[in-house]
Amino acid sequence: MSETVERKKRILSGIQPTGTFTLGNYIGAVRNWSKLQEDFECLYMVADLHALTVRQVPAELRRHTREAAAMLLAAGIDPKQSLLFVQSHVPAHTQLNWILCCNSQFGELSRMTQFKDKSAKHPDNVNGGLFTYPALMAADILIYNADLVPVGKDQTQHVELARNVAQRFNSAYSPTFTLPEGYITKEGAKIMSLAEPTKKMSKSDTNLNAFILMTDDADTILRKFRRAVTDSEGVVRYDPAEKPGVSNLMMIYNVFTGKALAEIEAEFSGKGYGEFKDAVGEVVANALAPIQGEYARILADKDYVDGVLKDGAAGASRLANRMVEKVYKKVGLLQL
Ligand code: AMP
Ligand code: TRP
Repeated sequence: MSETVERKKRILSGIQPTGTFTLGNYIGAVRNWSKLQEDFECLYMVADLHALTVRQVPAELRRHTREAAAMLLAAGIDPKQSLLFVQSHVPAHTQLNWILCCNSQFGELSRMTQFKDKSAKHPDNVNGGLFTYPALMAADILIYNADLVPVGKDQTQHVELARNVAQRFNSAYSPTFTLPEGYITKEGAKIMSLAEPTKKMSKSDTNLNAFILMTDDADTILRKFRRAVTDSEGVVRYDPAEKPGVSNLMMIYNVFTGKALAEIEAEFSGKGYGEFKDAVGEVVANALAPIQGEYARILADKDYVDGVLKDGAAGASRLANRMVEKVYKKVGLLQL
């Protein structure tokens, strides 16, 4: 992984271990991660430090962290090709975080939609970490000189901020950080809640029918899709503004069948929503079944998962420590 010779473009992304992944996480992010491994040098991270910005039950956070790693492996992350690690296992991220906090402005951090949303949702815990969250995320990205950051649409504002901070640092000191770009697939950049299709599907939703979990069995998946909120028109037609529920289901169907939206409209023309919803449920259940099998198998082998994470942390630390050393020197911290 030399910085001077021509190298493959580098990718970094992360996901918080705040619960079992949803279909939204899978379609918007994780599904793409495994596909990118061939063409890019990839680093994937379980963002356990970011999860602490919302109160966590310690034993659950530990369990979810290992489960998240197992799910990423089940979804096709290959530890021979990519580095898979846990954010807190690479302390250099938090070291760079401080430097980047000192190079992020109160104004820009205040403008982050996620900060505003989460503050409104947890008014009793608007903590400093929630506010500086994007500076830690910038550290995650910039510490590896990542070129591309594959995320869902909700994270693009944070990637933009990382880019701005990188640019500011580079001009204040000297060229140091690669300017990262968000990498967002057109399809499924934002999968909506099945219960309130104008809101994104989120694993923290209190309505359990709002999301599909990666571990839901076929019956549950079919049932949740049958209950999905649609509209009274009765026509399968793509129109996200007027028909957010149906359009969301069409997007999910498109992702798993590869059929174009017009093709889907034709397939279900003259048919009711019942039939359409069952078809969506079935393709999702079929797509998740093999991942679920792998997940169960991998999760049962704790030593394997932990071994992958240890190797990942060691590999990532080598790169990250080098960057922190360079940055410390540039900003004028005394080195002995
Ligand atoms: P999080 O669960 O917030 O850690 O998100 C992990 C990744 O999944 C990020 O790249 C998000 O942008 C993506 N993501 C989360 N929810 C959705 C959704 N409903 N649709 C598409 N992508 C999503
Ligand atoms: N904040 C991201 C989310 O909630 C997770 C994350 C943390 C991340 N660090 C990252 C994503 C670095 C991309 C790059 O989805």
